[in-house]
Amino acid sequence: MIGKAAGPPISITGLGAYAPDRVLTNDELSTIVDTTDEWIMERTGIRERRIAAPEQALTDLALPAAHAALDGAGVAARDIDLLLCATVTPDMMFPTSSALLADMLGAEDAAACDLLAGCTGFMYALAQAYGMIAAGLAGRALVVGGDVLSRILDWTDRSTLVLFGDGAGAVVLEKVDRPGFLGFELGADGGGGVHLSLPGSGSRHIEDATGNGYVQMNGREVFKFATRVLVSSAQAVLDRCDASVDDVDVYIPHQANVRIMDHAAQKLGIPRERMVVNVDRYGNTSSGSIPLALADAQAQDRLKEGDLVLMTGMGAGLTWGSALMEWTR
Ligand code: ACO
Repeated sequence: MIGKAAGPPISITGLGAYAPDRVLTNDELSTIVDTTDEWIMERTGIRERRIAAPEQALTDLALPAAHAALDGAGVAARDIDLLLCATVTPDMMFPTSSALLADMLGAEDAAACDLLAGCTGFMYALAQAYGMIAAGLAGRALVVGGDVLSRILDWTDRSTLVLFGDGAGAVVLEKVDRPGFLGFELGADGGGGVHLSLPGSGSRHIEDATGNGYVQMNGREVFKFATRVLVSSAQAVLDRCDASVDDVDVYIPHQANVRIMDHAAQKLGIPRERMVVNVDRYGNTSSGSIPLALADAQAQDRLKEGDLVLMTGMGAGLTWGSALMEWTR
């Protein structure tokens, strides 16, 4: 799916993020599985990641991020009409984390549902919230992306354990005076889904002693997929919006792996200094990755009025998605 924004100007007016306090370094990981800081840094660029406390579930990470986003937008929770929560690690399948979060926030009038699109969930949720507002079905949306992947990792499997971390981010979307979102491109390839899966998480398999309850990944295949779609999806949305890579001021790819991100920036021709990188500090936080990076960019004053911001996610499904927007304060 690809589309150029045709509705009224809609943008992000508030932004927040939260990552748990607990820092897990590569050196500490090397006491848990057979790995080294050198291997992890060389292959992924990840130095450390955050791990949720035992009592923390997804909504505990999402709540502070949501509060910060609402405060930033100057919007009360009761004025939110739509709350979308993109995650593959909800507190539980139901009640949904979005419904729980709406209750915690006091967003009494909000329609709320969770969205499953792997690590691309936040991009899908942004596009859906945009569409609902553009169509006049909602006035303001709160879009949350977050995951507690540490709960679905096999802590004896070095090939996945070193890659991921926990975190969440949230944004408020509403109508503004000048164009914010310019276009979206979203896609899915279920045929490649086998390369990144959580088999014991639904009605196909029950969780058992075979490891079905943990993330299973073919790293090389995911690497090939990621390097391909980060480029093709970004290029597609730029083309559709009649924009060029030279116009991109801030590039925010899914924070999966520095090697994948560098490859995408190089292929696209985006100078590295325009790319936001925080995977070194957080690892891959799945649906939390792009909003955490957006929040970092904002904290570093890298998001200026009128800047062209390109975001591209990819992940389980396999899925991918890009959004192009002009930043509005
Ligand atoms: N520490 C030390 N050695 C390791 C580790 C580790 N943590 N993990 C694997 N190895 C070993 C392997 O066993 C293998 O050893 P062998 O040669 O003796 O068999 C060797 O390192 C090389 O393994 P490869 O898998 O070939 O290593 P590769 O260079 O492909 O890097 C990696 C692996 C980092 C996982 C890479 O494939 C990758 O980044 N893939 C994409 C993963 C990703 O981004 N997934 C998430 C995206 S979607 C989402 O966000 C949910």
